[in-house]
Parts: sequence; C-alpha cells; structure tokens
Amino acid sequence: MENANMIHHFLSADRRIRTLASHLSDHSSTMASDNPTSTLSPSPTAGSYVGSASVFSAIAQAPEDSILGVTVAFNKDPSPVKVNLGVGAYRTEEGKPLVLNVVRKAEQLLVNDPSRVKEYLPITGLADFNNLSARLIFGAGSLAIQENRVATVQCLSGTGSLRVGSEFLARNYHEKVIYIPQPTWGNHPKVFTISGLVVKYYRYYDPGTRGLNFHGLLEDLSSAPQGAIVLLHACAHNPTGVDPTLEQWEQIRQLMRSKGLLPFFDSAYQGFASGSLDADAQSVRLFVADGGECLAAQSYAKNMGLYGERVGALSIVCKSSDVAVRVESQLKLVIRPMYSNPPIHGASIVATILKNSEMYHEWTIELKAMADRIISMRKQLFDALLQRGTPGDWSHIIKQIGMFTFTGLNSDQVTFMAKEFHIYMTADGRISMAGLSSRTIPHLADAIHAAVTGIN
Ligand SMILES: Cc1ncc(COP(=O)(O)O)c(C=O)c1O
Repeated sequence: MENANMIHHFLSADRRIRTLASHLSDHSSTMASDNPTSTLSPSPTAGSYVGSASVFSAIAQAPEDSILGVTVAFNKDPSPVKVNLGVGAYRTEEGKPLVLNVVRKAEQLLVNDPSRVKEYLPITGLADFNNLSARLIFGAGSLAIQENRVATVQCLSGTGSLRVGSEFLARNYHEKVIYIPQPTWGNHPKVFTISGLVVKYYRYYDPGTRGLNFHGLLEDLSSAPQGAIVLLHACAHNPTGVDPTLEQWEQIRQLMRSKGLLPFFDSAYQGFASGSLDADAQSVRLFVADGGECLAAQSYAKNMGLYGERVGALSIVCKSSDVAVRVESQLKLVIRPMYSNPPIHGASIVATILKNSEMYHEWTIELKAMADRIISMRKQLFDALLQRGTPGDWSHIIKQIGMFTFTGLNSDQVTFMAKEFHIYMTADGRISMAGLSSRTIPHLADAIHAAVTGIN
C-alpha cells in the first residue's frame, strides 16, 4: 500500500515536471516567433554584412610605444639568456617583480577590516591620501600646507597627475607653452600636447660630458616667454639620470621666479633615487619655501612598487587658501568627465602606510634597500667595464642617479646588442639599472664591450 502511494507520488511529480518543461518550450517558441529579434540565428539582413569590409578598414596601424615596444620585442625573443632593460620597473636580484612587505601588510589590514566598503570615492579621491601625499612631498612642516594653500587631488599615478595638471593649465592658465627638458620621458610631449598645451624644449643633457648642460638650460629658460610653464623632474631625471646639484637648483629657482615661469614638478622617483624621501624632494621644497606657486605630480609606482595600482597625486601650491579652493573646484571639472573619480584600493594602501609610523618606517627601509641595490648595480657594471678595458669613460654610470643609466650607446649599437646578445633597451641607449642583477652584469658588460669595439 505504501509502495503504491510512493509510485503514484513519483509519477505525478514526473508528470508535473514534464508539463512544466513542455509549457516552457511552447512558451519560448511562441515568444521567438512572435518577436523575431529574440531568435539566436542571425537575420538575413545581418548576414549580408558579413562579407563586406570593416568600417574600420582605413585605420592605420599605430606604431608601438617606444618604451613598451621594447618589451614586445623582448617577449618575442626565445633566447634563454635574454635580458630586458627597457622597462622602468624594479626587479629583485633574482630578476623578479617585488611587492613590498609593508604593502602586503597594509593590504591584509584592509582585507580584514569588515567596515571597508567599495563605494565611489569623491572626484578628488581619498582625503587622507591627499593630505598625506602633500606632506610627503612638501614636508611635514610645510608652511604652504599649514596655510591651506595646497589643492591636492588623487589621480591615476604619475601619468594621470600630469594629464590632469596639464589640462587644468590649458583651461585655466593664461600661458599655454610648456618647456620640457631635451631629452625627457617619452610620454611627456604626448601628455602635454593632448591636454592642449604647446610643447617646447629647453636644453638639459650634454652628450659630450654625459652630464647636465646647465649653461644651455639657463639660456633657454631665460629666453622663455614670461609666465611659461616649465616641467622639471624633481629627481632622478628620466632618461638621463642627471640631476642639477642643490646649488644649481637654487639658480634655476631664482631665474624662474624672476621671470614668473611656472614650475610643474614631475616626481616619479621620490626616495627611489637616493634612498631618502626628504633628500629626493629638496628641489620641490626649495621652490615651495619661497612662497611662490607650483604644481607637483606624484607617483607611487616606483617608490611603493604600486605600478599597476595606478596611485598618484597632483598638488597645486597656491598663494592663498581661497585661490586653492577655486583651483580645486576647477580640477574637479577636469576629472569628472575624464574618469569620474579615482580607484580606492591603491590609495588606501598608501594612506594606511603613511599614517602608521611603524609601517612608514618599514617602508623607508624597504625603499632604501631598493635604491641601494640599484646603486650597487651601477658600481658593479662600472667595475665590469673597467675590467674588460672597454674604451671610453664610463664614470657617468656611477655619477648618474635613479632607475636609469643613459649609456651613450647609439641606436646601431643598441640594435646589435639585441640581435647578438639578446639584451633589450630603448633606442636612445637608456638601460634600467633596476632590471640588472649580479648574474646579468657580466653578460651586459660583454655586450657593451663588443658593441663599443665593433660598431661605431
Ligand atoms: C619621469 C616620469 N614621469 C612619470 C612617470 C609616470 O609613471 P606612472 O604613471 O606609472 O606613475 C614615469 C614612469 O616611468 C616617469 O619616468
């Protein structure tokens, strides 16, 4: 009796499922025929487009980015001994990317904090991050900060900060010409031009001495129009690794202030050059201390290893707090239609580290270790060339500072080294010291020796 009941139960359940399935399939077929657009097969009209040319067929192939293109060529090379010295990213002695311990710790804290949400940030970004970033570059005791004369907005790393700053200037500042050093980071002229500024160059590097062309720099800035914008690399000039001395910075400051030139600092390597956050910000602080105005674009890509998190800040130091308020309101008008508001994660990592004195200290130690490893690579490469008796004066390798050495190798020698030694660098002969290790230095020294002795 019980069995018969169970069989009946299953049969009726089975019948119900089948009825439901057939109802659904009837319904969907009815829907499909009632509404032709919902069918999955392409309509005959759409089919007639398949064979025709793309509406984008006239679009030209764009050239590869000159810096990122090096990695493309490197990736295509199957050689097991290949070395990529093109990219400006830190590598460990084992050639691996590095995530700082203090960054991992900060991320753990963030992940374990249940009160954290993923709401939008304001247009200007994370307030804590902005305040701490301004203190980092201008100094904790900065008068400009105390007097609320600084407008700081969180941006997409250094590039985004430069982009927002230059569009702000193009819209709101009377002088549209920006003077940038010759040579400079390849993205500078593109960022400034697309923002609506007019790019001109000032002499910076002397290939003869492989040092600063200070005379040329002063001459060119002297003849710049009153009020022109001047881009200055705060430290560790990219690509040359050549920085003015503090005395030279002071002369540049005096000249620029006397002509009313507007300084726009690009600070992509604070702490990464010398190992000291304060020493690497001296140039910027010199200009801020005189009470004048300036812009500063900061990046946490290198000094905190947050490359892909895209964390940076743009600060505009103004003469008074009411100007700073209006400047910030205009910055929002630049940012809102560009990307609306910045991402939260990277800025939260930075703020967590900067506001905790223990973590801050730990960061400075890890930062110094990266800077020291780069300095030691310089020494090792210099010694290796000396040992080989490579013709020429290579002392610029140890004199230059920061991530890059501007070797002085010409583009034929660069091509030769890629082809024969599988060593990749930008065509201007710039090598990333951060991409080297004690293991790869003999190989590089052999390649430089062969290039210099074999190719003119
Ligand atoms: C001089 C200079 N400015 C700005 C940047 C911007 O870097 P990011 O946008 O990754 O912060 C770089 C990166 O290589 C640089 O070398």
